Amino acid sequence: MEIRLAKTAGFCFGVNRAVELTYKLLDEGHRVATLGPLIHNPQAVEDMRRKGAQVVNTVQDVPAGCEVVIRSHGVPRSIYDELESRGIPYHDATCPFVQKIQRIAAQAEKEGAVLLVAGDKTHPEVQGIVGHTRGEVFVFADLAELEAWNGPSDPQKPLFAVAQTTFQVTKWKESSEFLKKAYTNARIFDTICNATWARQQEAEDLSQKCDIVVVIGGHHSSNTQKLVQVAAKHTRAVTVETASELRPEWFADVKVAGVTAGASTPSSIIEEVLNSMSAEINDSMSFEEMLNASEEKRVHAGSIVKGIVTS
Ligand code: F3S
Repeated sequence: MEIRLAKTAGFCFGVNRAVELTYKLLDEGHRVATLGPLIHNPQAVEDMRRKGAQVVNTVQDVPAGCEVVIRSHGVPRSIYDELESRGIPYHDATCPFVQKIQRIAAQAEKEGAVLLVAGDKTHPEVQGIVGHTRGEVFVFADLAELEAWNGPSDPQKPLFAVAQTTFQVTKWKESSEFLKKAYTNARIFDTICNATWARQQEAEDLSQKCDIVVVIGGHHSSNTQKLVQVAAKHTRAVTVETASELRPEWFADVKVAGVTAGASTPSSIIEEVLNSMSAEINDSMSFEEMLNASEEKRVHAGSIVKGIVTS
């Protein structure tokens, strides 16, 4: 069996930044609390918990003496106000790409515009974005929901449209095409993150070359689930949180297996999954070496170790 690993598998810039900040604070001896799990990966969250980071659900729950880390998803404006009014120190790890959307939301309020958000209304990033405007908002999950919308309360109101950073690229394209025709005054902001776009693109490419695509990531991680949906368009796609969830029967008759991972998946877990899929990796080239190797060397290494190549 040949294994193809997506080049973009694993932590994105924003998640990496939040995780590094949290570990740095813990190493420096700060008491840390995060508002919700820092990332959508239970194993990584558990590791941080063991090192002292507490997960709390509300600002009221922050234990005395703790500093808060705001995760990469961001939070509504009201949370900053609450932290400040209670005098709780905080470190803002909101991803700059999410901050950009929050600024658009604030601008929509200033201009009296309706904010349209393509995304999952239960996702913390979307709730954070919505919490940066006090104006009218409509959140839609797909084109069907957008088409069913009755429009702004006042048809003269300007419209601003944004997408959750991890929204599916194809769904966003069809939604923005519809908006351009149905609401000619809509200002459309392409806010899907490049990291998401590149991961989805790679998952799609992999799925066209592989008999199965294994997506590693938290079962509650939205970007991981989207990678599964994208890969499943062309081949069989499965998702695992850890190597222990791999099932040997998935690989019966598989000649080429693709592997990718959500933006919250630590490299240690990707490594474990690859090791389980090909027990010989360690004998030939470590995961770290494989990622750092030149393209030629990767393919060469792949041909030695049951064909592991990066896609
Ligand atoms: Fe930021 Fe994009 Fe990651 S928005 S948190 S770099 S997926």
